[in-house]
Amino acid sequence: MPGCYQESIDEVVKSAKEVYSLNIPAIILFGIPEYKDEFGSSAYDDEGVIQTAIKAIKDKVPDLYVITDVCLCEYTNHGHCGIVKDGTVENDQTLKLLAKQALSHVRAGADMVAPSDMMDGRVRAIRLTLDEEGYYSTPIMAYSVKYASAFYSPFREAAESAPKFGDRLSYQMDPANRREALKEVLMDIEEGADIVMVKPALSYLDIISDIKNNSNVPVAAYNVSGEYSMVKAAAQLGWLDETKVMMEILLSIKRAGADLIITYFAKDVAKIFNN
Ligand code: PBG
Ligand code: ZN
Repeated sequence: MPGCYQESIDEVVKSAKEVYSLNIPAIILFGIPEYKDEFGSSAYDDEGVIQTAIKAIKDKVPDLYVITDVCLCEYTNHGHCGIVKDGTVENDQTLKLLAKQALSHVRAGADMVAPSDMMDGRVRAIRLTLDEEGYYSTPIMAYSVKYASAFYSPFREAAESAPKFGDRLSYQMDPANRREALKEVLMDIEEGADIVMVKPALSYLDIISDIKNNSNVPVAAYNVSGEYSMVKAAAQLGWLDETKVMMEILLSIKRAGADLIITYFAKDVAKIFNN
């Protein structure tokens, strides 16, 4: 991915300082673990890469808001977002592990957790676990509407999280289905989501608008890796004015109704705003 790198803990702290100095309010962390296994154990290892990164960031840049992605695909040897049995992802068995992962992140100092796995019932499982442990004021931003999109491929390469077999169609959503988005959002709010997310953003502006008009919590939009990379690639070829296109894209996501935007353009756009 152009301009995006796997960073060691000391580099992450440097990036965090830069991000904070650019007035970007929050970051979201994704982990590249030292080991992968069938159950994604490194995801809920208290000494894992994300847990260590959170502590290091909070030590040096305490006021930067740290969100963590909660999912197993970067940590499992098969690359699926949940536990696999006989070639299929086991929804209910995965819930306990996601809750453990979220709790481990929050214990390390995460300000908010963002489950991206798309297992049914994971918001409730995480909420119950956090509440039981006294973290009742730690919010959950749910990747509520996550389509099975081809726009994730640069991320999967960068995060080494592509599935080794099959696809994610059994747990991510069908891009042709518009009304299912609202169903997923309403279920997640019922289970305790504080913010709901639509992902990807650009091919799904209608969905962002639907969700904004039919829910009463903040709506986040994830401007994903493929959406970012194609702009960068076209700009490198001299085919597009990168800054203008970036601003138009982000504006359109905002216009559709996003209250928050997660984007790889964050530093680029912050520099423009700061000037
Ligand atoms: C993990 C996860 C993915 C992304 C965010 N969290 C990949 C996937 O679902 O395959 C994609 C982010 C991007 O493309 O920028 N489940
Ligand atoms: Zn995943």
